[in-house]
Amino acid sequence: MCGIVGYIGGQQAAPLLLEGLGRLEHRGYDSAGVAVLGGGTGRSTVRIARRAGRVRDLAESLPARFAGRCGIGHTRWATHGPATDANAHPHTDASGRVAVVHNGILDNAGLLRRRLTEEGVELTSETDTEVLAHLVARSVAPTLEGRVAEALALVEGTWGLAVLHADFPDRVVVARNGSPLLIGVGDKEMHVASDLAALVRYTTTVAHLEDGEMATLTATGFTTYRQDLTATATTARVLEVDPASYDAGEHESFMRKEMLEQPAAAERVLRGRLDDRFATAHLGGLGLDAREARAVRRVKILGCGSAYYVGQMGASLIEELARVPADAEAASEFRYRNPVIDPDTLYVAVSQSGETVDTLLAVQEIRRKGGRVVGLVNVVGSAVARECDGGLYLHAGPEVAVASTKALTTMFLGFALLALQLARVRDLSIAEGRRLVDALRALPEQIAEVLDTEADLVAVAKELAEAESLFFVGRVRGFPVAREGAQKFKEISYRHAEAYQTSELKHGPLALISPAVPTVAIVPDDELVERNVAALHEIAARGGPLVVLTHAGVDLGDLAATRIDVPRSERELDPILLTIPLQVLAYHAAAHLGHDVDKPRNLAKSVTVE
Ligand code: G6P
Repeated sequence: MCGIVGYIGGQQAAPLLLEGLGRLEHRGYDSAGVAVLGGGTGRSTVRIARRAGRVRDLAESLPARFAGRCGIGHTRWATHGPATDANAHPHTDASGRVAVVHNGILDNAGLLRRRLTEEGVELTSETDTEVLAHLVARSVAPTLEGRVAEALALVEGTWGLAVLHADFPDRVVVARNGSPLLIGVGDKEMHVASDLAALVRYTTTVAHLEDGEMATLTATGFTTYRQDLTATATTARVLEVDPASYDAGEHESFMRKEMLEQPAAAERVLRGRLDDRFATAHLGGLGLDAREARAVRRVKILGCGSAYYVGQMGASLIEELARVPADAEAASEFRYRNPVIDPDTLYVAVSQSGETVDTLLAVQEIRRKGGRVVGLVNVVGSAVARECDGGLYLHAGPEVAVASTKALTTMFLGFALLALQLARVRDLSIAEGRRLVDALRALPEQIAEVLDTEADLVAVAKELAEAESLFFVGRVRGFPVAREGAQKFKEISYRHAEAYQTSELKHGPLALISPAVPTVAIVPDDELVERNVAALHEIAARGGPLVVLTHAGVDLGDLAATRIDVPRSERELDPILLTIPLQVLAYHAAAHLGHDVDKPRNLAKSVTVE
């Protein structure tokens, strides 16, 4: 959420900063800005351009003279104050000689703003970040490092930040506390960014700052130190990343590209983790030996958004296969209700970014109370991954679209592996284990089969897009599928989409059913199929249009419905195959309505604020 870039070296900074911001735009896209240090041989000056709107609007409005070989930039997702030009970063002090970009939230900004105002400082924005610019400017420490450290000593909260100062034109000072910051080492030039996506085109030699760390970047290198200015030993290493995986390539959007990458991502998450001999899964990174796995009495899954819904799918898988009580809860709610932390419970944090602050803080709360947490995380080395006792990486590759697709699929498979491992040290027989191992192996191909039906789904999507309001319904294993389907649909099409348990419709929502309110129903061929079909008749009898996701052979009788058959897996694994067409429907509904599917309004990819 929000993106930071910075550059110092021999090239003109502004084009590089704008390019980097474009690559971070999914993290926040309501306003953007850049600052460069210019002034040639005379006295240096800081020049700032910032405005509400997209990075491309900023690029178009950039003054012709915006030269400088050192600069910082920011793309914003508003927290303090609306998306206006004045609230866009970089922020500066009264002299205009300091510029600051900041991700995160300063908890005591209100108090500091009041104090500064009392002391005669005129604040020009509604942001928390602006106080930092003033605090840096007011410090009289002899070095920029000292000034930034003094400012940071006065604030509470989270930050990833970068500071320019016209009196110290040979450097950029950056700091991290709770919001990621990476330094990219180039040839006589240095980059900084809050996400690898902005660096990979320039360098894959990268240093990750730790919380509480600061760094100074000059054209020739970087040094790292703590906030008390004592040196730290953080070094850069070469990452194995494919820069092309951060581009949409020939695809019209990242979401479509990422949907189509699901078969390959599914294969990667399974690779090397299935054991044919004992018909189980090997998840060495969990750090759970057989005895510990057997001792688990409960599983509690925590995540946010789509990660929470797939967590519900995971809970059902674990409970069914391992016969351990399991449930999922929104991490944002969990951590605020003073949860009882039980030593026999295995806590599982699930997150694509590994940065979602609610998930991160839930992990910290559990560990603080002595609980054991494992992570299902996509981004290697991310905060959640580092805070957990163990875990498994999802290997989905970079996910850029705000709406999660391939990461979600790998999360589901991660849960299936975890369920299998827990089940096979308990009561699941080797024959049953084999049934699941075989079914897991077949999934990537089956996901591809579903994606091959995309063309058939477009007409259905267009019809659904016409409705102002829709229901997504399912039962037991199908309910989280419906929740995820509704989430995808609403977040990118902006239609009201509500998920409900099919069984509960008659207790209220049936009142809303009419020819104008379609229902998308999840009806796998399982032990509930007859009950599900009966409930659909109740919808049809009230004139509600129906789209039914089901399996070939399921008899819908004389039900007037648009039918979408998905390939069969084993019933425990069916939810993921039922989820894929819902992504495709949401995608084409949004595209038909002319929305920017990768950047839905008001949202951002990684939610690093509470
Ligand atoms: C945001 C995104 C969702 C995502 C959720 C959790 O709300 O818009 O698509 O599911 O964050 O993100 P995480 O990175 O923790 O999986």
